[in-house]
Amino acid sequence: MEHGISYKSQDYFEFIWEMEVLEGAKKDMVVETGVLYGAWPYLLAPSMPKGSRYIGIDPHPYWSIAGIDRLSWVVSELMEAEIIPLIIEEKAEDGIETVKSVLGERTIDILHIDGDHTKEGAMTDWNLFKPLMTPGGFVIFHDMYARSKEAVDVKDVVFDIYWPYRMWTFKNSEALKNSIHQKGVAILQMPDERDEIVQGKENKIKDLDDPLSLINI
Ligand SMILES: C[S@@+](CC[C@H](N)C(=O)[O-])C[C@H]1O[C@@H](n2cnc3c(N)ncnc32)[C@H](O)[C@@H]1O
Repeated sequence: MEHGISYKSQDYFEFIWEMEVLEGAKKDMVVETGVLYGAWPYLLAPSMPKGSRYIGIDPHPYWSIAGIDRLSWVVSELMEAEIIPLIIEEKAEDGIETVKSVLGERTIDILHIDGDHTKEGAMTDWNLFKPLMTPGGFVIFHDMYARSKEAVDVKDVVFDIYWPYRMWTFKNSEALKNSIHQKGVAILQMPDERDEIVQGKENKIKDLDDPLSLINI
């Protein structure tokens, strides 16, 4: 894929870290709330198998940047890679029915929550899509540590729900502490047959004052 495209909505180092956590994860069905101009599918596509599906939901996608309709370009790149895209031009809470009809008996392997960043919005996405997740699948909350006013709420949502999930968080370097480039992300893994092990691990984490600091890198 072409280089040199500025995708400020995703941080390259953060994404490399995400790929380490998601290494070996099933990526046959990926859903994103808040697809905007497609930075995340653009980055994820090379690790998705042929025949997989990418469903992006956003009431206002297809923004043009420097005269280029980025999402249309990303969609054509996905198709070129034999990944089947679907862009649902609705809010997540409305688009969920279309997602369910596309899924049929299938479930979501990876969910990227990057739509409405208010506490209510991120919590709504979590509650809507959680029942549709593959056991052992991954839910990513983007902008966990972003500096924008609305994104601060995402951290609250993650703190409210992370128990009893296996979780990883990423915060960019201190140098970016007050920068718009500080995004931050939390990845939660849905329960699977290793549940008991996960529970034991989290019990240890819970005793700490700041459980997140243990697993930040
Ligand atoms: C931070 S941007 C997403 C960036 C995108 N993930 C990327 O990688 O380029 C947030 C997007 O969420 C969308 N959005 C806001 N409320 C939403 C909702 N209720 N459901 C889905 N998307 C929503 C906005 O229209 C906006 O395009």
